[in-house]
Amino acid sequence: MREKIEQLMKKIEEFNAGTPQHLEEFRIRILGKKGELTEMFDEFKNVAAEQKREIGKLLNEVKITVQEKLKSQKELFDNVETGKNIADKTLPANADSLGSRHPISLAKNEILEIFTRLGFTVADGPEIEDDWHVFSALNFPPNHPARDMQDTFFIEQNPDILLRTHTSSIQVRTMEKQKPPIRVVCPGRVFRNEAISARAHCIFHQVEGLYIDKNVSFADMKQTLLYFAREMFGENTEIRLRPSFFPFTEPSAEMDVSCKICGGKGCNICKYTGWLEVLGCGIVDPNVLESCGIDSKEYTGFAFGMGVERLAMLKWQVKDLRLYFENDVRFLEQFQSAI
Ligand code: DAH
Repeated sequence: MREKIEQLMKKIEEFNAGTPQHLEEFRIRILGKKGELTEMFDEFKNVAAEQKREIGKLLNEVKITVQEKLKSQKELFDNVETGKNIADKTLPANADSLGSRHPISLAKNEILEIFTRLGFTVADGPEIEDDWHVFSALNFPPNHPARDMQDTFFIEQNPDILLRTHTSSIQVRTMEKQKPPIRVVCPGRVFRNEAISARAHCIFHQVEGLYIDKNVSFADMKQTLLYFAREMFGENTEIRLRPSFFPFTEPSAEMDVSCKICGGKGCNICKYTGWLEVLGCGIVDPNVLESCGIDSKEYTGFAFGMGVERLAMLKWQVKDLRLYFENDVRFLEQFQSAI
């Protein structure tokens, strides 16, 4: 019996509970109705009279040890729960959880990175702009519908000060400051007075591109944009340019990329056309060059503009734009980046 008691004592001293549940199981195993120590106390009545004193003392010692053990281990768990300083400083620390980059930043960084590889630099401009940089210098006629109150947020009833509706305003600022050759990409937030829905938001992000030099042609633009599309969406991506209209480019086009979800066969993402619209582009209108002090007889150039949310939606097949603004961590956590 003495040996059995000593073994139990050793077991108790060495015990370390991993979880509160583990601790409770341990308590039942030792002190429960059929517990090891309970059974030993039952056996105690059969112990020879001359040994009773010694065995009784040992059993009591085991009882005290197990009670202390239960108490100290329980305290440890309670402290962890309430966040109090845990007594056991040797326990491994909780790992810090790292945040992740916002998917719009990831998409924007990827777009900028592709163009910087082609020699473009990144330019910036203000979000609160004037009519000249957003519209007039970009060849918008005075009564063009885009200037309408419906689309544009004006500031303090002053129609000259407004929130930029596109990042094309940074083109103008760049051309006013810099002499050609110019190769810039301009990321930024833009604002439009639109109802918020799954497909539209009053705040979104664009990246604008501008290339001005001698003899820049439509073919240069096409090749640049093809390179971009393949870097962004995969090497088998095809592009298609459709004629379009923008006041600041002539000719103007909209670019589609082949739908990588169905491989061009047609699916509900590309509305069964096999193509997805990704950006607007064109040859910079000579009026724009002249407005910004660049000789349109000597220089030509191309420009393009794309919506970052739209590209991000296509890349990750997110169907509701609002997810990008709600900042629900369950959504954001799914995007990981190396940098
Ligand atoms: N600014 C246009 C928009 O917001 C996008 C765009 C189209 C930019 C064609 C350009 C361009 O530079 O050439 O819809």
